[in-house]
Amino acid sequence: MNKEKVLITGASSGIGLTCAIYLTYKGYKVIGTSRHPEKLNNDLLKNRYLEMLTKYTITHLKSSQETLVKGKIQIPDEIFENLDNLIEKIEFKPLDVTNSNSVSEIIPLLMAEGVRIIVNNAGSGFFGPIETLSIDHSKEQLDLNYFGQIRVIQNALPYMRNDGGIIVNMASLGGYIPLPFHSHYSSSKSALRMLTETLRLELQPFNIKVVSLNPGVINTPFNVNMHTPKAGSGPDSYDYQEENSITTLKKLLNALPTPKESPYYSAAKQTWETVVRNMIRGPSPQIVAEKLYKIITSKNPKVHYISSNFIQRFGYFLMRRITSDKLKIFITRKFYGI
Ligand SMILES: NC(=O)c1ccc[n+]([C@@H]2O[C@H](COP(=O)([O-])OP(=O)(O)OC[C@H]3O[C@@H](n4cnc5c(N)ncnc54)[C@H](OP(=O)(O)O)[C@@H]3O)[C@@H](O)[C@H]2O)c1
Repeated sequence: MNKEKVLITGASSGIGLTCAIYLTYKGYKVIGTSRHPEKLNNDLLKNRYLEMLTKYTITHLKSSQETLVKGKIQIPDEIFENLDNLIEKIEFKPLDVTNSNSVSEIIPLLMAEGVRIIVNNAGSGFFGPIETLSIDHSKEQLDLNYFGQIRVIQNALPYMRNDGGIIVNMASLGGYIPLPFHSHYSSSKSALRMLTETLRLELQPFNIKVVSLNPGVINTPFNVNMHTPKAGSGPDSYDYQEENSITTLKKLLNALPTPKESPYYSAAKQTWETVVRNMIRGPSPQIVAEKLYKIITSKNPKVHYISSNFIQRFGYFLMRRITSDKLKIFITRKFYGI
């Protein structure tokens, strides 16, 4: 059985957790990271995973009776039956990709232990109008979603140059298509795609493959963990056990970080509500995990991959290949109802 070691940053939740479970199931030794591994336990991880892998529909859409209806859990039987065992096998290490000391403490150790497959997945979104997001806040977004990945890569490369390996950067369809009120998020993911291409050029002689994996809208706690400019919000302020749930629809819909007095309030509200509803009804992160497996087992992976449902892929195709930029902005505004 394959015992290759894989590092997945941000494996405590969402796409990272699902990839960690799937690759463990496929026989890899997975080392996952979290800023707070001491707060994780197997039951918490299992609940988060099962919640994301559950199909949800929304009835009475946008009315006062709007209700989230829980459907089936969509997991291959072999994973469901072995879930406790698979989660138990994932090794968690502390890592904050925005902290250079944290990265340089842990990454060289893991590389010295033989990690040659890195999934740069840690990341988050910042929501708000460009006009009112402070420059410091905007820098934080790039620090997490772009410089954070560079910190990991810089610490890993000295160990990979002799043996080769693969680096998968978790970018986003939002890096191709502008998302209103997610300007710095979209920009950070665009930058990550370009970084991927440049690294691919530079690292070719060392047999290190660099790939970007671009999910569409996927059902994860991404919105719950969204950074907002409100005082006291952000990743360390929520109750890790209680609040990290994607099923509190009404609470999430009401969590719009843009204040009522903002001139952007109405458009921000429309966008926020569209994003929240679409994410809960979106495909499960299992499709991303399966794409990741395809990438790391490919002899000659492409530079960029997309992972989404058919409608999102079709929309992406239309936006990228057929329409003009002006039409692209028009369609995006229509889609978000702004
Ligand atoms: N969900 C989507 O629709 C979607 C679409 C496209 C791309 N993506 C990308 O996929 C990745 C995972 O997102 P997700 O949807 O799975 O969101 P999520 O459930 O909120 O997971 C985010 C992960 O990142 C970790 N993280 C956050 N800040 C960190 C930091 N400073 N240092 C290290 N780790 C940090 C979190 O771990 P701790 O809190 O335990 O530290 C968590 O495990 C992100 O890069 C996101 O941009 C998501």
